[in-house]
Amino acid sequence: MYDFDTIIDHHGWASEKWAEVREVMGPDSDDVIALSVADMEFKTAPEIQEALHRAVDTGIYGYEYCTDAYYAAVQSWMLRHHHWDIKREWISVSDGVMTGVFTALRAVTHPGDAVIIQRPVYYPFTNAAVRNGLSILDNELVLGDDERYVMDYADLERKASDPRCTAMLLCNPHNPVGRVWSRDELSTVAQICLRNGVTMLVDEIHADFVYDGHEVTMFSTLGEDVAANCIEFTAPSKTFNLAGLITSNVVISNPELKRRFDIAADNVAGLSVNHFGLVACQAAYEHGEAWLNELRGYLDGNLDMLRSFAAAQEGVTLVEPEGTYLAWLDCRGLGMGSDELRDFMRNRARVFFDEGALFGDSGKGFERVNLACPRRMLEQACSGIAHALGERG
Ligand SMILES: Cc1ncc(COP(=O)(O)O)c(C=O)c1O
Repeated sequence: MYDFDTIIDHHGWASEKWAEVREVMGPDSDDVIALSVADMEFKTAPEIQEALHRAVDTGIYGYEYCTDAYYAAVQSWMLRHHHWDIKREWISVSDGVMTGVFTALRAVTHPGDAVIIQRPVYYPFTNAAVRNGLSILDNELVLGDDERYVMDYADLERKASDPRCTAMLLCNPHNPVGRVWSRDELSTVAQICLRNGVTMLVDEIHADFVYDGHEVTMFSTLGEDVAANCIEFTAPSKTFNLAGLITSNVVISNPELKRRFDIAADNVAGLSVNHFGLVACQAAYEHGEAWLNELRGYLDGNLDMLRSFAAAQEGVTLVEPEGTYLAWLDCRGLGMGSDELRDFMRNRARVFFDEGALFGDSGKGFERVNLACPRRMLEQACSGIAHALGERG
């Protein structure tokens, strides 16, 4: 019913992803396939486009508030998709997840404190900590022999008990390693943080993408004590390719934490809401389900293709994703240093990834693959790599 196969001409579109390719690779880079920045090479759902068209046609773009219908759409989506019953007064609309994370860090930490992150992880987490005057305690994820990442709880307990540690930034599902943390894993983390007075900031922006056999647990559904100790970040931006409309929803059930969050937001003149972002988010949560279901099937097909490609290449292993539309390719078996691997992918294979080293030292030798693209693009990327590996001998 929906079209995920058409390749969109990126020349007519101010895309950060493709601009970076041109900037790094120069003007003769039209043959390069970009599978880097985590937005999609698909148009959003037509149902959302129609709602946006209607909003444009009113010609009225003055100051707006969040309507009852907006909140109801968010609440209903979370209940239907995540068995998560949230109250309207728990929701703050934010201009993007990272703006919410910055605000939350200012609300629950003081400069000089330390925050736990789990590398390799979405690199703006590091930036958010550093920009807020925090030092980082890296509870590095551990890659088992089965190519599956797990958490190191003993190390987490040690770091959480550091008197400087006041917050932990958790990514669930995890970008880039693709883990959908189980209820048990999340409970263990929650208990460690509760025991040590560490406030949890949980980024659930990828929660709408899980592969069969896995289920996302929204952190605060673990129990009232856990909910009272956390701030959660959700958004329709990954799910429906709406990142440019910078609209996300922060959920805080603890009134005292919410008060601190609101003060931190007010201290920088409040979080902005954008009329078109609100319209798109509401339409997505009300009418986007069919599109999303079809997209999930398409992503399954893309993942199958990447899996077969990796299985056929010596030295390349897929870290099987459980969620997100990102995949993590272990290329350490190719025996290249991380600069060499990046240059090989870009200049020989003509594929532009977000290189693993961006996500922390433990990401060296990996590449993050954005699967949210027409299959022909992924096919071209895979054959570019296979060909370049063949030439290398
Ligand atoms: C884990 C994670 N959090 C946050 C973001 C960015 O969200 P926003 O653009 O709403 O700040 C991304 C984008 O890739 C992400 O992967």
